[in-house]
Amino acid sequence: MITLNEEQQHAVAIALAGNNIFLTGKAGTGKTVVINEFRRSSNKNIITLAPTAFAATNLDEALTIHSALKLPATFFNSDWEPSYNKTMAELCDAVDVIIIDEISMVRADLFCAIDKLFCFYAKGNDCCRPFGGKQIIVVGDFYQLPPVVKNNEVFEVLNEEFNGIYAFNTLSWQHAKFTNIFLNKVHRQKDMRHLILLNAIRFNDPDLARHLEFSKLNVIDNSIALSNNKNICCVCCTKTVANKINLHAYNLLDSPAFHNIGEIIGKFPKSDLPVEQILSLKLQEKVVILANKRAGFRHSEYLYTNGDIGEIIDFDNDKKIVSIKLLSGTIVNISVTEWENYEYKVKVENGVKKIVTELVGKFIQYPMPQLMLLLFINHKEKPCHICI
Ligand SMILES: Nc1ncnc2c1ncn2[C@@H]1O[C@H](COP(=O)(O)OP(=O)(O)O)[C@@H](O)[C@H]1O
Ligand SMILES: [Mg+2]
Repeated sequence: MITLNEEQQHAVAIALAGNNIFLTGKAGTGKTVVINEFRRSSNKNIITLAPTAFAATNLDEALTIHSALKLPATFFNSDWEPSYNKTMAELCDAVDVIIIDEISMVRADLFCAIDKLFCFYAKGNDCCRPFGGKQIIVVGDFYQLPPVVKNNEVFEVLNEEFNGIYAFNTLSWQHAKFTNIFLNKVHRQKDMRHLILLNAIRFNDPDLARHLEFSKLNVIDNSIALSNNKNICCVCCTKTVANKINLHAYNLLDSPAFHNIGEIIGKFPKSDLPVEQILSLKLQEKVVILANKRAGFRHSEYLYTNGDIGEIIDFDNDKKIVSIKLLSGTIVNISVTEWENYEYKVKVENGVKKIVTELVGKFIQYPMPQLMLLLFINHKEKPCHICI
């Protein structure tokens, strides 16, 4: 159980008081912890949303914005209007608080579409209030991942119609009149040297090269990643580049391979799968682990945590066990993991509308994608070799 520090407690108190909030701070300052605590402490009807399925898995009972609000995966021009849907009308009516995590990845047009959607279903004067009069809490760090803008045309339209690509560029953001809350203390990163390096990257410090040298990270040319060296990890900006490097590394290994077909039970959109459904791995392959395991019951130490890196040293695909040697040298046995997919439903209890989170599907697979290189972006707090 985490004890919130003073600044985190203050953030929860302001949220409980009903204010619209922009909660920000560096990676690891406990923003997500604050939201989870607010959800536990409040008796309001809260929906917790994230722009990607990956971000949603870090939050209690969160859904992606698109699946929770039944929005199409399109561009929302400024003249976009929602069309009526009875289930959405019931949901929007019952919602008291909207939380959006990883707000830096929410594109301006989507942010305005959320605002419009809640106004569309709002009753009485609420239809003219920001987000239909709901409390809105946006959480994230604009120094982190930006929204996906596929091409220049979209970029230009976003600038013309929404004043920029980010949620904060929009009129919807201005109208929400957020109280800004900054969290300062980093909890995740204990290695001071690495923390200093991350700050230098964050603020584009002119001394970045010196910090990299000090951190003993090797910055090498991109082409070396495609050479024979198995001990290099790369930070890539796109999935395509990461896939290319991964496939190359995979093909170079002549060790035994195994394949596992992940099981989908019930409803689980393929676009939201955290790991490939057909996963091919090889002995000696490097993987990133997307799961946490405590060292023992009630133990605060973890055997492995989300984002740990290791090498496959053994597998028993019949018993569904893969042995991984972590960077620390520890060997852990990892089995398949279950991911859950939820939907928000409205239920009436004693005449009061309650939003309940209903489990609608599961996905079972080894928590270790080959997309390790790309995932370094999401796990940028972990030390790694950098290829630039
Ligand atoms: N007050 C705290 N005490 C101890 N650990 C904390 C505290 N707040 C956060 N953490 C830990 O720090 C890590 C980062 O928290 P998280 O909420 O994911 O940060 P953020 O969302 O800001 O990136 C998590 O492992 C979390 O458990
Ligand atoms: Mg977070």
